[in-house]
Amino acid sequence: MDKKLLSNTAATMVAKGRGILAADESSGTCETRFKTINTACTEESRRAYRGLLFTTPGAEQFISGVILYDETIRQKTDDGVLFPDYMARKGILPGIKVDSGAKNLALCPGEKVTEGLDGLRERLAAYFKLGARFAKWRAVITIGDGIPSHTCLYANAHALARYAALCQDASIVPMIEPEVLLDGGHSIERCEEVSEAALRATYAALSAHNVSFEHVILKASMVVSGKTNARQAGVDEVAERTLRVLKRTVPAAQPGVVFLSGGQSDVSATAHLNAMASMKGLPWPLTFSYSRALQNSALNAWQGQNANAGAAQRAFHHRAQMNGLASQGRWKAELEKQAA
Ligand code: G3H
Repeated sequence: MDKKLLSNTAATMVAKGRGILAADESSGTCETRFKTINTACTEESRRAYRGLLFTTPGAEQFISGVILYDETIRQKTDDGVLFPDYMARKGILPGIKVDSGAKNLALCPGEKVTEGLDGLRERLAAYFKLGARFAKWRAVITIGDGIPSHTCLYANAHALARYAALCQDASIVPMIEPEVLLDGGHSIERCEEVSEAALRATYAALSAHNVSFEHVILKASMVVSGKTNARQAGVDEVAERTLRVLKRTVPAAQPGVVFLSGGQSDVSATAHLNAMASMKGLPWPLTFSYSRALQNSALNAWQGQNANAGAAQRAFHHRAQMNGLASQGRWKAELEKQAA
């Protein structure tokens, strides 16, 4: 365990004005996204699309790291440079998704547990050699009638802690992601309660497994109203409730917190981050680690056509820049209109 490397990696991930591009969609998720633009999802089309994002001129100003998928970390730019090597040259940290997905949790109907611990020590060593310096594991917590259960929170927290300990042992910063899904008709109050319970369970497990809080990054879901709840909370309420939960549960020793977008609109994800980052006196820097909210507009501009690569890069650059500003509390809605 190289503590100096872990500290440097974690500090770079949350460096001022920069955040993370999550480009670790599984091939199945990619297929769903590519279908929306009538584009065949092949190894080559995935490479071409990811490549255009990664080679966007100037993106490194706002992007500190990229989460890759097992296939992607082995792929190359059009010029034949391995993606992680290309990123490292631009000062962008390569990261890697290391879980193998959320599976049905036995005897707990409607709930999931994330798998992927078997062989993880060896995979982490191989990913480190390929250049990965941080790794992501996503747990999925569903809110519904009588769920999440204690069993679900405990099983996911335990897996997150086992993975985080293995990462630190391999000198890779764990990006722990206990995602509370926004799907459902639940209230924002219920989301706050569940988010707090999930984080309490997660940090208790991290502590029980000797995970060093100084070398871990939390990838948090925001506290929002369920997607189909009649009362959709405004930006200030989301910011206030999310920060209240984080302050109650996340140790101040942690180097930073990044957020997922979870299906929020592009601008909502930016506005929420901006509202939270504007608050004074927080113990950790906040930034983004978005997939959909960074990629939606680029994907739509691309439409699977090489000829649209430039337009897709401009769309991606814009969202990265907006979120870079939001991570410093310097974003304004007018900036979106100016770009339109
Ligand atoms: O694990 C989830 C991704 O890394 C973040 O994706 O921003 O689309 O929720 P999202």
